[in-house]
Amino acid sequence: MYNDINIEEQIAAIDLASHEPADEHSRELYYIGKLRALIREKSAEIGRALTACTVTFGCQMNARDSEKLAGILARSGFVLTDSENADFVIFNTCTVRDNADQRTFGHLGRISHLKKKNPLMKVAVCGCMMQEPGNVEKIKKSYPFVDLIFGTHNIFRFAQYLYEIYDTDKTVTQIWQKTDQIVETLPIERKYPYKSGINIMFGCDKFCSYCIVPYVRGRERSRDPKEILREAENLARDGVTEIMLLGQNVNSYGKGLDNPCTFAQLLEEVCRIEGIHRVRFMTPHPTDLSYDVIEVIRDNPKVARHVHLPLQSGSDRILKRMNRHYTKEQFIELARRIREEIPDVSITTDIIVGFPGETAEDVAETLDVIERVGFDNAYTFIYSPRRGTPAAAMKDQIPAEEVKVNFDKVLSAVQRNAAMRAGALTGRIMEGLVEEVNERKEGYVTCRLSNNMVVHIPGDASMIGSYKPILLEQCRGFYFFGRIADTDSAADPQ
Ligand code: 5AD
Ligand code: SF4
Repeated sequence: MYNDINIEEQIAAIDLASHEPADEHSRELYYIGKLRALIREKSAEIGRALTACTVTFGCQMNARDSEKLAGILARSGFVLTDSENADFVIFNTCTVRDNADQRTFGHLGRISHLKKKNPLMKVAVCGCMMQEPGNVEKIKKSYPFVDLIFGTHNIFRFAQYLYEIYDTDKTVTQIWQKTDQIVETLPIERKYPYKSGINIMFGCDKFCSYCIVPYVRGRERSRDPKEILREAENLARDGVTEIMLLGQNVNSYGKGLDNPCTFAQLLEEVCRIEGIHRVRFMTPHPTDLSYDVIEVIRDNPKVARHVHLPLQSGSDRILKRMNRHYTKEQFIELARRIREEIPDVSITTDIIVGFPGETAEDVAETLDVIERVGFDNAYTFIYSPRRGTPAAAMKDQIPAEEVKVNFDKVLSAVQRNAAMRAGALTGRIMEGLVEEVNERKEGYVTCRLSNNMVVHIPGDASMIGSYKPILLEQCRGFYFFGRIADTDSAADPQ
């Protein structure tokens, strides 16, 4: 289903003069076929190809969704570009914190000037932010030039909506409140030839009290394991060696499936695929990370030595108010067990500072977890109230100045611990995947180790996508400078 020739054959087999097919997959290919003819006409009129740009905010799930948008655009005859000065621009939005919303509005403000200069230009906005009614209204009022708005549940209908805005020149707004469909067989334009995400589940049922994700991404739904494995096999055939299994809460994968399968089993199966060299996953929830997953990581050298385990807070009182279902000591015990079972594993985390009611004692508990676990890296966020979430309605919101002081304390503890953990690896030889040319330092490429650490080494574009034994020479806090190790010294398997 995923390789190019197959998709082209399928489009060719559809009668574009007839009514739209009933099944979602064929329906979308039907609209790609029809859209192609329109785009070809427009290109002929203006004497050049139409360009399209996807702008992505937010998490890995959104990045994967943007590859789907890009896949449809490329198949429909657009030439993809990184510049927002394009004939079609789509913003795939995030709404997890207020600053993500503000970034989208900032881009929309700037694009209005470009649109004035290019009358052909069409603008679309999709993703999590659109699932909030207030935002759609705001866009319609303040940015009336936007041609297309849709949400997270109907992204697979993109080709149809695109066809409609080009066919009629009218605006289209389509927000669904939910869906029970999973359509993962449409063309995809991968950002990297050698690595890819795979969606294994959608939505989240955890309802952490600060988080908007369950409201904008809907209830948890797992994908059939056979389909996931087929996608992974096709990606491997297409030259992908690193796979990231994606879900908001991957450990609860498998609930409600016809073919029962746990996350640990799925992980193991993906590792069996020939050609797949590394498997990552994002994100587990500390409550559900079962021992069998730790064992699979331990026993399968293909699984990356990296666990991203969001802590959010170290205070039992705050964890309870966050609806996280674990205590500080349970988290520390889980981290200890992971480190004990998986040598060289890195543990990274997310921490929220300034949750309603957080006191100096609560922050001290968070700092204590940072010291005791010694995170290899952490994303530290200032709490952002999200409309409709229980935490946003809590009375004891903290003033910004107070949060800033605590945020700085947490950040410096995180940075100190991360630098210490990284520094301890100096002189080691580890396997790195060469990911890209280093734009800032000429003659260098950037590699990623199994533990997710970044290392810059001398090299050129011809090395991209290859795995190299890398000597970690100079630690610069979160990352390293290094070089390819001499051939007679063996790399650590990880
Ligand atoms: N405010 C601040 N950070 C948040 N996160 C989720 N919701 C909020 C919020 N309302 C953070 C959590 C989560 C990460 C993806 O984003 O730490 O793990
Ligand atoms: Fe949000 Fe909690 Fe679900 Fe993560 S587990 S997406 S923080 S509700």
